[in-house]
Amino acid sequence: MPNDAQIKLDGKEISYPIITGSEGEKAIDLRKLRADTGYIAYDQGYGNTGSCESAITYLDGDNGILRHRGYPIEQLAEQSDFVETAYLIIYGELPNQKQRLSIGRLLRQNAAIDTQMLRIFEGFPREAPPMGMLTSIVSSMAAYYPHLATNNFEKDLANFDLTAAMAISKIRTIVAGIYRYRHGLPFNYPKDIPFCDNFLHLMFSEPYQEYALIPEVTRALNLILLLHADHEQNCSTSTVRMVGSSGANLFTSLAAGICALSGPLHGGANSAVMQMLQSIHDEGDDGTRFIAAAKSGAKGNRLMGFGHAVYRNYDPRARIIGHACDVVLNKLGKTDPLLDIAKRLEHSALNDEYFLARKLYPNVDFYSGIIMRALGIPTELFTTMFAIGRSPGWIANWKEVASNPKGRIYRPRQVYVGPVKRDYVLIGKRT
Ligand code: SDX
Repeated sequence: MPNDAQIKLDGKEISYPIITGSEGEKAIDLRKLRADTGYIAYDQGYGNTGSCESAITYLDGDNGILRHRGYPIEQLAEQSDFVETAYLIIYGELPNQKQRLSIGRLLRQNAAIDTQMLRIFEGFPREAPPMGMLTSIVSSMAAYYPHLATNNFEKDLANFDLTAAMAISKIRTIVAGIYRYRHGLPFNYPKDIPFCDNFLHLMFSEPYQEYALIPEVTRALNLILLLHADHEQNCSTSTVRMVGSSGANLFTSLAAGICALSGPLHGGANSAVMQMLQSIHDEGDDGTRFIAAAKSGAKGNRLMGFGHAVYRNYDPRARIIGHACDVVLNKLGKTDPLLDIAKRLEHSALNDEYFLARKLYPNVDFYSGIIMRALGIPTELFTTMFAIGRSPGWIANWKEVASNPKGRIYRPRQVYVGPVKRDYVLIGKRT
């Protein structure tokens, strides 16, 4: 076939079909490679390997393009909100009026968590890592709502709309509960108000004083969550697909995704950026020390919030958030010295050959913390905020796995580099 890929191996020439995506991306279909040749493909970190065909998000890292179900992230950021974008990502179309009202109602109706789940919070030390608490409490949802977590795709998909709404809404409520617990504050109960308003109420209302909702704050929170809603096959989303491929229910698969997101190279970067900016501020440094350390190449010294596994261009989300920082701070009548430091750091890095040569640009995490801090969200919760935002993407990807009649369990192979066959030695004869 003219469009096939030819592999010459051990004197044989074998053709493999080319798969072309809806945006023209090309893939070599190697699903028969091992059966045909006994060889496997080796691609550490899967940077050149497609694990699935997905219709949710298109990402062009070279040109800094991000679209959800065909809609550019710039248009969604400008005109949509988190719940509407979550609906689009999960169901594939922008909701009509009726659908928008219905998803909003379902989210409000399922915002509370089982009061017995509050005892799980009590089982943690107050200073426990928020992402550790979040993954445990989300995982417990499979026990509290077993009828929605049967580990039988047909049964679980039959209740998908409710399960998805519960997951998004309760993850938001649990994050606020973690904040209240860590600060020794009484838990708040959800109200019959929109998603982001409810989050701010759950976080900051006090028994003696309701949180005063400010439209600019709600709008900024919508933007932050919307910009995190999905991002193709990133580490945590691929983890959700991997776990879901075993037949695991949505809650359990989401808990696994939260674990993956907690790593400093992934979702943990947003709080690491703020710690980096704060230490530059406290030391009166102009950032050159961090840039010099980052250029050393040591994984532990990386410029947090910079670089990306896919983008070799400016992360479009970072550009949107970077612009929003000034707008949000101005509207709230706030200033943040860390924003000026971040802008100087970005300018220095983008004029430094080390970063330019490696095509290292700001990613979504570089500026997001500035806005979250302006909204009063403490740094310790930044990665859990990422989890709230990413929940629709994880859910949509789990649904693709669960709905695929030809789906298979994810089971990558390896190149074994350990000891070859050897016989057991009795302990008395070992050196
Ligand atoms: C997210 O995948 C997604 O879509 C993720 C995400 C999403 O929405 O789900 O976008 C969210 O995780 C954003 C990334 C957040 N992480 C950080 O900001 C941490 C800092 N960034 C890096 O650790 C790094 O850029 C990664 C982990 C994001 C990407 O790593 P890669 O693709 O494995 O990059 P690499 O290790 O191949 O780096 C190539 C070169 C290396 O130098 P050389 O060996 O060629 O000399 O670039 C260097 C790296 O040392 N490099 C950096 C750097 N990132 C890469 N050097 C300094 N600072 C950095 N930030």
